[in-house]
Amino acid sequence: MCGIVGHLGTFNSLSVVLDGLEALEYRGYDSAGVSLIDRDGKIITAKKEGRLTNLRKEVSNLKEIYFAGIGHTRWATHGNVNKVNSHPHFGDGFSVVHNGIIENASELKEELIKEGYQFLSDTDSEVFVRLVEKISKTEKEFSKVIFTAFSRIRGNNCLVALNRDERKIYAIKNNAPLACGQSDDGTNYFVSSDPYALQKYIDTIYFPENNVLCVLSMDQEIAFVEPDLSDSNKFKTEKNSLLSSENTKGDFEHYMLKEIWEQPNLIDQFKIHLENEANQKFLTTVPKRIAIVACGTAYYAGLFAKNVIESRCRIPVSVDMASEFRYANPVLDKNDLAVFISQSGETADTLAALHLCKEMGVKALSILNVAHSTIYRESDFNLMINAGPEIGVASTKAFTMQCLTSVYLSERLMTLMGESVDLVKFNKQSSRLAKKIEEILSRTDEIKKIAESIHSLNGFFFTGRNKSFPIALEGALKLKEIAYVHAEGYASGELKHGPIAMIDEGVVNIAYIENNLFEKTLSNIQEIKTRKGIILTIGKTDTEELKNISDYRFPLDVDDLDDLSPLALNVFGQLLSYYIAKHKGTDIDKPRNLAKSVTVE
Ligand code: G6P
Repeated sequence: MCGIVGHLGTFNSLSVVLDGLEALEYRGYDSAGVSLIDRDGKIITAKKEGRLTNLRKEVSNLKEIYFAGIGHTRWATHGNVNKVNSHPHFGDGFSVVHNGIIENASELKEELIKEGYQFLSDTDSEVFVRLVEKISKTEKEFSKVIFTAFSRIRGNNCLVALNRDERKIYAIKNNAPLACGQSDDGTNYFVSSDPYALQKYIDTIYFPENNVLCVLSMDQEIAFVEPDLSDSNKFKTEKNSLLSSENTKGDFEHYMLKEIWEQPNLIDQFKIHLENEANQKFLTTVPKRIAIVACGTAYYAGLFAKNVIESRCRIPVSVDMASEFRYANPVLDKNDLAVFISQSGETADTLAALHLCKEMGVKALSILNVAHSTIYRESDFNLMINAGPEIGVASTKAFTMQCLTSVYLSERLMTLMGESVDLVKFNKQSSRLAKKIEEILSRTDEIKKIAESIHSLNGFFFTGRNKSFPIALEGALKLKEIAYVHAEGYASGELKHGPIAMIDEGVVNIAYIENNLFEKTLSNIQEIKTRKGIILTIGKTDTEELKNISDYRFPLDVDDLDDLSPLALNVFGQLLSYYIAKHKGTDIDKPRNLAKSVTVE
């Protein structure tokens, strides 16, 4: 969601903040802004609608070396995308950036307006600024002011304030990401909504708990403060080595394409991480039932995981979208296991669902990519997907690795059940998957041609059966996200129960085909063909029937991959979406309206 970076110290704050925001821009990118303290001790603020490059141009005339600054990239929630609603928002002598949603903003705003406070923007964030102004009239200690203002707001929020006269940065959060740290020599201090922005500057990263105030001031250790202003020890410390520095596009035109191409290597490397995973804390008893909870692509990985776990372990598995699960009064007990899947480990709804499960006394196991994330820290057990940073907003390699990790989870569960588990077999199967994906990548030209032929059609129906159903959903989501076209994922047998009414010569059925249920799937495709729909089939080596029925074909034999076969087929979907989006000319790495890490509910 919104990205926050703050800096204090001998480096030029303007460059530190802008570079940090650039690293986070993939999370939210509809406007950006900075506040800096200049040599005369004044706060100057610059904001600009649109991408960070616009802000960079706007501040290119600022030649001074600034020693303190905060910055923000916005993903709008309250108030349109415009300069006024962009952050920072400021009051007399301070400036504030915000990530999250202040749920009681309307009532607080009403109260403040009645008391004569004026609002410049339509944001919920400005409510915090006016609260700070109000409280400052009677309370001179800024820490107390922040605590009091923070206690009045509801919701999951992170706020970072730059104080002009004290030359300090204050940061506080509730269920929202926040990290800070200082350089080894104590000359530079940093704070961010994501340690990713700080990794080149600090060796040790601090993660404060909720409601702990972090105070950054020159020449002093970062102070962690409790609401009664006593020192706090409620923060975790991680070594920066947990973070990867793998964050350039290399020769690829987009991060998304690079991340698609990384998959074979990541799958091959996965076995190297297994030894470490096997040493991590894990369940000691077999759960009676498993509830998987996730959002977006991770939810589809959950559907894949359900098939694998149920078929291998015969443990009943439910899969829910986190935003639904948390309000659905779920039926779980202490013998069940809740599994959370999240690339970022920060998704607000997934985190809230985790809290709900913990309140119910249900053990939480998370499948994550980011080791220092909030969900990681709050789960009982974690399995890491080891995908490295995923920058493209549309998830590709994380999905594949989430699914693969869920297969590993099924192996661990079988070990608990007393089955002798053959990790060598698992590794061989993974290697076959990696090879198959390499084959697909080497056939990119075939996929490009198909994309060229179908990109201007009106509708895209992805279909699959059983274990390929989740990748039909994922294929459609990918295409929607980056090409902005109407795409849907369906179970092959389900199209005739309604959606078939949409089929005509402007609609393509992208059908994933596997050997099991081949005849039935063929009948489903025939039904679409009869209604003049265009047919693109992927999978199974060529048969006469398939050749005859398909307008476009991508033959691919995935039989030897067993449970992993959908993950190979899905790579076709990733590349098809990518090349269709290229034809559409969209912003592939940062599609409109989306954000990589959704930290609001
Ligand atoms: C956003 C992203 C998706 C992602 C989903 C869940 O919607 O755009 O790509 O799948 O959040 O994110 P998570 O970090 O929890 O996997």
